[in-house]
Amino acid sequence: MSKPHWRPAHPSDLPAISAIAARIHPDLPERPEVFAEKMRLYPDGCRVLVAGDEIAGYGLAHPWKQHQIPPLDRFLERLPQDAGCLYVHDIAVLPDRRGGIARAYIAGIAELARASGIAALALVSVYATRPLWEHLGFRPVTADAALRAKLASYGEGATYMRHDLTAA
Ligand SMILES: CC(C)(COP(=O)(O)OP(=O)(O)OC[C@H]1O[C@@H](n2cnc3c(N)ncnc32)[C@H](O)[C@@H]1OP(=O)(O)O)[C@@H](O)C(=O)NCCC(=O)NCCS
Repeated sequence: MSKPHWRPAHPSDLPAISAIAARIHPDLPERPEVFAEKMRLYPDGCRVLVAGDEIAGYGLAHPWKQHQIPPLDRFLERLPQDAGCLYVHDIAVLPDRRGGIARAYIAGIAELARASGIAALALVSVYATRPLWEHLGFRPVTADAALRAKLASYGEGATYMRHDLTAA
């Protein structure tokens, strides 16, 4: 079987994305329309992992302001004009396809950010993935009260992290 690879997500991938999300994030549910909106607003950041003839993962990212996080399962409505980061909303991969997949997605998104004049990536780490993101260049950001309140909806241990693309 050919090596799994990332490609741009198409609207027809939505059922596969929703099915993977429901399986990997049962406690953080989001409606398919909310995924669809991200794909419409910022298709460049939305990718699926193709493994053989199945979709085995997805990654969704969009420009956003730094130190801010959109609430889960809500529409973004519009992207900020003065985005400070590409915000990785989520990356989820089926367990038997993992290994090198997050690294490849982040490399692609970092390239996209640089090409767009955006100097940082950001995300919310959940499920004790903080060491993995640190390994890929993200650093935890001390959250103020407003950010802490928003992080609470992501479950215990959720951490806002930033990857400075201007650092060597
Ligand atoms: C998170 C997820 C996408 C990672 O996918 P993956 O293909 O296993 O990730 P990668 O292998 O590319 O990992 C990136 C690097 O982190 C390393 N890493 C993994 N776990 C680590 C840990 N606990 N501590 C330090 N480094 C770690 C990997 O070895 C790899 O390093 P390398 O490229 O130098 O070998 C996948 O595990 C997943 O779908 N998890 C469930 C959903 C989830 O938690 N999403 C993230 C929400 S924030």
